[in-house]
Amino acid sequence: MAQTAHTNPFRFGALALDESFADRESEIAELANDIRNGQDVVVFAPRRYGKSSLVWSAARGLASERVMVAQVDLITTPTKERLAAALATTIYEQIASPLERAREKTLAPFRGLQIQPTITIDPADGSFAFSFGVGRKAADIDATLERLLELPAELGGAGDRHTALVMDEFQEIVDIDPDLPKLLRSVFQRQPEVAHVYLGSKRHIMERIFSDANEPFWRSAKQMELGTIDAEPFAAFIADRFRGTGRTVDEGTVGELLALTDGHPYATQEFAYFLWEQTPGGRKASSEHLRRALAAVLRSEHAHFGLLWESAATVQKLVLQALAREPGRPFTAEYRTRHNLPPATSVQKALRALEQREVVVGADGAYRIVEPFLAEWVEANVGAGSHH
Ligand SMILES: Nc1ncnc2c1ncn2[C@@H]1O[C@H](COP(=O)(O)OP(=O)(O)OP(=O)(O)O)[C@@H](O)[C@H]1O
Ligand SMILES: [Mg+2]
Repeated sequence: MAQTAHTNPFRFGALALDESFADRESEIAELANDIRNGQDVVVFAPRRYGKSSLVWSAARGLASERVMVAQVDLITTPTKERLAAALATTIYEQIASPLERAREKTLAPFRGLQIQPTITIDPADGSFAFSFGVGRKAADIDATLERLLELPAELGGAGDRHTALVMDEFQEIVDIDPDLPKLLRSVFQRQPEVAHVYLGSKRHIMERIFSDANEPFWRSAKQMELGTIDAEPFAAFIADRFRGTGRTVDEGTVGELLALTDGHPYATQEFAYFLWEQTPGGRKASSEHLRRALAAVLRSEHAHFGLLWESAATVQKLVLQALAREPGRPFTAEYRTRHNLPPATSVQKALRALEQREVVVGADGAYRIVEPFLAEWVEANVGAGSHH
């Protein structure tokens, strides 16, 4: 989309593509190399760190080298039939060139499946969608899935193309069917030349899948940890997007913005979106605009934080109030005394629950709130000693 003086250049929520995508050059290069090498990778990162956007960017770059990158998002495939359909669709898209679409040849690989897919064509854009009816025998569905999982390796090999299969929200795999990891792993093991890329946010589930010796995926993939975006490239990105739309922002204001978001990709785009909105056309963003932008962010997140707060148990609330004031070591007696917290065992239980909900992260006993803007919201609305 062309940048104009009237359109906000920041985006949060959808995938960050092309000019919405900042930095991550070394991560893209690393992932692209792993894919060319057929190396399996698991990408760990908290929610909204840009995992999906990163893989899309890498895949776009690789498309020009004819690398075959099939992608499925397991959040959209709650059943094995849906997973099979998504696999068939993405594989089809990878092997059918726009000109060849609908040619019998491109559909041939799907003819041998145990369950025959129904194929529908979207008249608007000519795209294909596969589906598999429900109510089939479990063994037939498993056989169909297995065959589909074998296809990328065969088709890629036949066309002399590097091949990858990306599975986003991979932690959902156990919810679709607890036996699926075993099936997948047994197929993937036989395709050393295919790069399997797993993305997921629910840390405790992802770690169980890949770091538990009793699990089929144990140590089966290189681990890649995606962090926040560095201040320097992110600041340049923000300044650039302002300039492209006829507004400006000075280094100090961008610095303040990034200090508050810590380079969290989603939070930074969200804050920058509101800052741009607060800045009059043709003008320069000031600290005052930034203050108003933060208030607007908190207003827009109010319902979300309100729900989060209501559903938190009492000790969890106390811990959140403490961490909003002071990230630190809640197990130590000094910290608990300072913030009037209950005994360490209750604090530990609350922290574990908050970690599982991905609201808080901890390492070596030190904890902080990861949910962006939650600390500011707690301080403003339900801070310890406030009367709301
Ligand atoms: N490289 C980037 N540059 C700028 N903004 C980014 C970048 N990556 C992510 N974002 C911002 O973060 C948001 C979330 O990105 P994305 O959906 O890729 O993250 P995710 O880690 O896959 O999230 P989820 O855990 O919800 O699946 C985007 O809408 C965008 O605003
Ligand atoms: Mg994602």
